[in-house]
Amino acid sequence: MLRFLTAGESHGKSLTIIVEGVPANLPLTEEYIGRQLARRQVGYGRGGRMQIETDYAEILSGVRHGLTLGSPIGLLIENRDFVTGRGPDDVPWTEEMSIAPSDVPFEPITSLRPGHADTPGIAKYMQADARNILERSSARETAARVATGAVARRFLEEFRVEIHGHVVCIGGVHARPSESIDWSLLEETPYHRENPHGSKVAAVRCADPVAAEQMIAAIDAAREAGDSVGGIVEVVATGAPIGLGSHVQWDRKLTTRLAAAVMGINAVKGVEFGAGFSQSDLRGSQVHDVVKPVGEWERAPDGGWVRPWSRRTNNSGGLEGGMTTGEPVVVRAILKPIATLMKGLETVDLTTGEFVERAHFERSDICVVPAAAVVVEAVVALVLADAMLEKFGGDHIEETRRNWRAYMASAGPRG
Ligand SMILES: Cc1cc2nc3c(=O)[nH]c(=O)nc-3n(C[C@H](O)[C@H](O)[C@H](O)COP(=O)(O)O)c2cc1C
Repeated sequence: MLRFLTAGESHGKSLTIIVEGVPANLPLTEEYIGRQLARRQVGYGRGGRMQIETDYAEILSGVRHGLTLGSPIGLLIENRDFVTGRGPDDVPWTEEMSIAPSDVPFEPITSLRPGHADTPGIAKYMQADARNILERSSARETAARVATGAVARRFLEEFRVEIHGHVVCIGGVHARPSESIDWSLLEETPYHRENPHGSKVAAVRCADPVAAEQMIAAIDAAREAGDSVGGIVEVVATGAPIGLGSHVQWDRKLTTRLAAAVMGINAVKGVEFGAGFSQSDLRGSQVHDVVKPVGEWERAPDGGWVRPWSRRTNNSGGLEGGMTTGEPVVVRAILKPIATLMKGLETVDLTTGEFVERAHFERSDICVVPAAAVVVEAVVALVLADAMLEKFGGDHIEETRRNWRAYMASAGPRG
């Protein structure tokens, strides 16, 4: 079983993570994790925070000489903001977020932001300062999930499982569906408003260049209006073997586990697999993925030959009965427009209960959809890695590989 816990406040000292269940002898480096963290930081519509931070996860334990030990892996991501402050002339957060009691006076946040965790959080935890809620509900924490997801991704690579994400909608602008996506194009230098060189496609992580252009315009328009925009991301995992997850109990279904992990990402308000919600308009004969009678012969991981099951279509998104079908796993997540608005919505004051014209604003993103694609990739990697370990086990990566090879050689048609 792969499990992890994260800790850390948005403007606190650091984010810390413990990941447990990774088999021994998996090659893992800080540079590898850092590359995934860097991908989360880019994207048109992000706020000033991303210019301050250069996320880097230090590996504290569980790895020796570049190989995992099978023991818990400890990770630490420093918040640069904690010591550098909000900008060149600004004070650092060391006093306001001090662990020890502090004599320095600071303004509590009392004008609650509709759409954020402020209002239910202060009620539930009986707080008089919404900062005590927003520090943890901030999506800064998703950096921790991306770092942890990088460990899972490294593990999955050993089994030829690849995970890619892209943006299919921002602010009502929908990308045209594409048969195949050039994933490397989405990783090119992103275009920035201040420095408009590089790729607009990469800036919004959208494979359709025309839609990418319009998405950037939609983000600009929201910025001008002091508002925010949401959207939809799609993540595709290829190479997952048939039979991960299980139909036998609701909480063992991979659909349950994937949906919970994706819904757990800040601002995600819906999840669908494959043809998803559009299936409500179709007949069964238009939806279900016909099994090809005789699969092409393919090289098995053990060097032999297999005829894997394969499908004419993949409307199920690679999931039937809560198990993988062997086709690509396709997950989509819809993100709401973020809640911290420059123009501020009407609200109430926490202390007086009186009307306030504009809710609290602090440096915020305008659109987080491109970054969210990387976060969804990370949690999909975590769920798939967990399901692989559940199926194939192994305390050493070779043991896992041996079990995977043996299974793959027998997973095609009987006979
Ligand atoms: C990558 C990412 C960055 C985010 N940045 C912001 C932000 O700058 N401002 C904001 O109000 N919400 C931001 N959010 C969303 C909030 O964290 C989220 O809406 C809030 O925690 C309330 O939770 P809920 O929307 O899941 O109900 C971000 C979400 C993601 C995935």
